[in-house]
Amino acid sequence: MEISHGLLLLLFNLSLLLLAELVNGSTDTQRKPYIVYMGDLPKTGAVTAADHHSLLSAVVGSDRMARDSTIHSYGRSFNGFAARLLPHEAKILSEKEGVVSVFPNTMRKLHTTRSWDFLGMREKMKKRNPKAEINMVIGLLDTGIWMDCPSFKDKGYGPPPTKWKGKCSNSSGFTGCNNKVIGAKYYDLDHQPGMLGKDDILSPVDTDGHGTHTASTAAGIVVKNASLFGVGKGTARGGVPLARIAMYKVCWYTGCSDMNLLAGFDDAIADGVDVLSVSIGGTVGPFFEDPIAIGAFHAMRRGVLVSSSAGNDGPLEATVQNVAPWILTVGATGLDREFRSQVKLGNGMKASGVSVNTFSPRKKMYPLTSGTLASNSSGAYWGNVSACDWASLIPEEVKGKIVYCMGNRGQDFNIRDLGGIGTIMSLDEPTDIGFTFVIPSTFVTSEEGRKIDKYINSTKKAQAVIYKSKAFKIAAPFVSSFSSRGPQDLSPNILKPDIVAPGLDILAGYSKLAPISGDPEDRRFANFNILTGTSMSCPHVAAAAAYVKSFHPKWSPAAIKSALMTTATTLKIKDNALGSGSGQLNPRIAVHPGLVYDIPTSGYIRFLCKEGYNSTTIGLLTGGKQKYKCSNFRPALGSDGLNYPSMHLQIKDPTARFSAVFYRTVTSVGHGASVYKATVKATKGLSVRVVPNTLSFQKAHQRRSFKIVLKGKPNNSRIQSAFLEWSDSKHKVKSPILVYRQSI
Ligand SMILES: *[C@@H]1O[C@H](CO)[C@@H](O)[C@H](O)[C@H]1NC(C)=O
Ligand SMILES: *[C@@H]1O[C@H](CO)[C@@H](O)[C@H](O)[C@H]1NC(C)=O
Ligand SMILES: *[C@@H]1O[C@H](CO)[C@@H](O)[C@H](O)[C@H]1NC(C)=O
Ligand SMILES: *[C@@H]1O[C@H](CO)[C@@H](O)[C@H](O)[C@H]1NC(C)=O
Ligand SMILES: *[C@@H]1O[C@H](CO)[C@@H](O)[C@H](O)[C@H]1NC(C)=O
Ligand SMILES: *[C@@H]1O[C@H](CO)[C@@H](O)[C@H](O)[C@H]1NC(C)=O
Ligand SMILES: *[C@@H]1O[C@H](CO)[C@@H](O)[C@H](O)[C@H]1NC(C)=O
Repeated sequence: MEISHGLLLLLFNLSLLLLAELVNGSTDTQRKPYIVYMGDLPKTGAVTAADHHSLLSAVVGSDRMARDSTIHSYGRSFNGFAARLLPHEAKILSEKEGVVSVFPNTMRKLHTTRSWDFLGMREKMKKRNPKAEINMVIGLLDTGIWMDCPSFKDKGYGPPPTKWKGKCSNSSGFTGCNNKVIGAKYYDLDHQPGMLGKDDILSPVDTDGHGTHTASTAAGIVVKNASLFGVGKGTARGGVPLARIAMYKVCWYTGCSDMNLLAGFDDAIADGVDVLSVSIGGTVGPFFEDPIAIGAFHAMRRGVLVSSSAGNDGPLEATVQNVAPWILTVGATGLDREFRSQVKLGNGMKASGVSVNTFSPRKKMYPLTSGTLASNSSGAYWGNVSACDWASLIPEEVKGKIVYCMGNRGQDFNIRDLGGIGTIMSLDEPTDIGFTFVIPSTFVTSEEGRKIDKYINSTKKAQAVIYKSKAFKIAAPFVSSFSSRGPQDLSPNILKPDIVAPGLDILAGYSKLAPISGDPEDRRFANFNILTGTSMSCPHVAAAAAYVKSFHPKWSPAAIKSALMTTATTLKIKDNALGSGSGQLNPRIAVHPGLVYDIPTSGYIRFLCKEGYNSTTIGLLTGGKQKYKCSNFRPALGSDGLNYPSMHLQIKDPTARFSAVFYRTVTSVGHGASVYKATVKATKGLSVRVVPNTLSFQKAHQRRSFKIVLKGKPNNSRIQSAFLEWSDSKHKVKSPILVYRQSI
């Protein structure tokens, strides 16, 4: 009895232990990473990890638990921390004094030599400010940097500017910084076993190519005879080729997590970057639960303009991302150059399609077949035969041949894997994107496709050849098909994207650790690559901002943004209204905009008060607690409540008349006295009145206010637009006015 009693007790104790372990274990796995965002640095002094620790331990119950669940403390440029929390703990924290928001850590994703010539910034352009430009630092949050890319050589550079506080990680696979790339760090705060891809390296080194591309687009040095195996040959260079680069690697194989992004912003702002380029996006949520909006807000407060990509989800409407009004949101345009590769058939027929094909044919002709003819007709098919789906083709019928495939799918991988040597793909809907294929390939129209198929059917000895891509001149600029479009509903009367810049088929630096097509079996590695996306547009605008700043070091981010927007070139090709904002970036003119629509911090505060943020939250955002109370400000007036360089109105009821007022103040940044007159061009049915329509300035820095009164009747056209232009004969200060009717 005695023994069995003891045994029972032991068993009971054991099971308690097990139970305790189970409970602990299960809560641990239920803990998820959250960001606890606490606004600006308090005026009272620096934030410490200890402050975050005591706040957290009060919620999670013990010192030890708080220590174990803390991931990172932010505190160089704003206040907050990242921790593993249970949902109820997140809720309790969100209600604590001093906390602005608590939100789960999510993954965001990454959104490509002639582009600068096209924008009117010639290599030998006289109008530069080299003494200032060489002290500009462009920061990028991206995939890291490949130091061996020729764009980052530092010959002729002195040490970093004295203001610079950034550092370089000294770690595996990274050869260290130089006087061109003066900062390089990596962030893997949410690193867990299995989270890193096999090619990820724990250092600032770029194993993806994206970061090297964006960095060299913004500030790469001049590299002659750059090309992708001869395609796109020319001189590669950044928009501000003298400027320095600081890379904050926040993106890995799995994506770019919120906590890494915030850590990158926290450092970049404190390190002393002049502008930031962030070619990353994700779901659009409330401003202060979005790491890019939060980071950009604190950057703005410290005089750093953030350029960010609009996203690649076009041409669908309402897809634009990074819409906070203090961000410069960038869409993509095509250049006047398109890469096409030509196909010639055995019967002499020629066709050509958009593609980046780096392969030169070795023979005059190759055997040609089609998916339909190379299919497995003896039994059950897997997939779509005419579209060349993988399991539907017989390798023996494909081997050594060029294969014709139908449908909007890139089947070059398939054909390569089956032993094919090329593919001609017909598209139901034409594309403007030149893809980099893994074997000689090109797209043709469905009409050309049908002719090619007919030829294949007509002979037993069908033949074809696909030539290396060449550049062709096309009409430009136009908004690229993939570029995300407005409208947006976070602050519906702010027009986004703000501006567009080249993002289609951009040649820039690349990492030799990444194959040019991104396909792991691709053996082509190069110092330069041709990439496409709003990711590629974003660093163009960041560089233009640095260029303007090199002439006007004291201008606020909003003033620089206004200068870039009001001097942009209006797009005329195609239906661009919801995708182009103010138009195509025109940096050369942006240096002398004449007038700017400036927005001081108080302007954004009034806007946030109007949007329903209360004084408590605003106190935290500004670190001032008392000073920035909504009641201390005149309420923001007008339809948007912000001194924005564009005007936008969304109408819910399309059958109603509408009228709206926009209040604006412009500051003269020209020399001496000037008189500006307003002219408006509007589509029929939209009435636009500017009061007053003449503004006189006696000297620079004077401010003048005016209002714009919009009126319209019901109209079943969803979009009505106008253009406002202030002109003093020397300057043209342009703003788009866009009315969007939501459909019933
Ligand atoms: C970088 O790391 C290497 C190897 O750990 C070390 O020898 C070197 O001194 C380090 N350099 C700096 C600047 O810390
Ligand atoms: C330019 O680059 C190509 C290869 O990219 C090379 O074959 C050629 O010799 C180079 N020309 C000059 C003038 O450097
Ligand atoms: C054709 O498909 C059948 C059924 O899936 C398969 O058993 C056969 O091996 C295939 N023939 C060839 C030549 O691939
Ligand atoms: C196969 O793909 C072609 C080209 O995209 C398409 O027209 C056809 O409808 C598809 N067939 C099937 C059965 O899905
Ligand atoms: C070519 O032949 C295939 C297989 O018989 C057929 O499906 C296809 O429609 C033909 N193409 C044309 C353009 O006639
Ligand atoms: C201010 O707003 C926050 C977030 O919406 C809310 O938690 C807080 O209670 C509000 N404070 C006051 C004084 O209304
Ligand atoms: C409605 O708006 C469209 C687009 O701006 C314009 O072309 C049309 O004339 C307008 N209709 C009326 C009745 O004003």
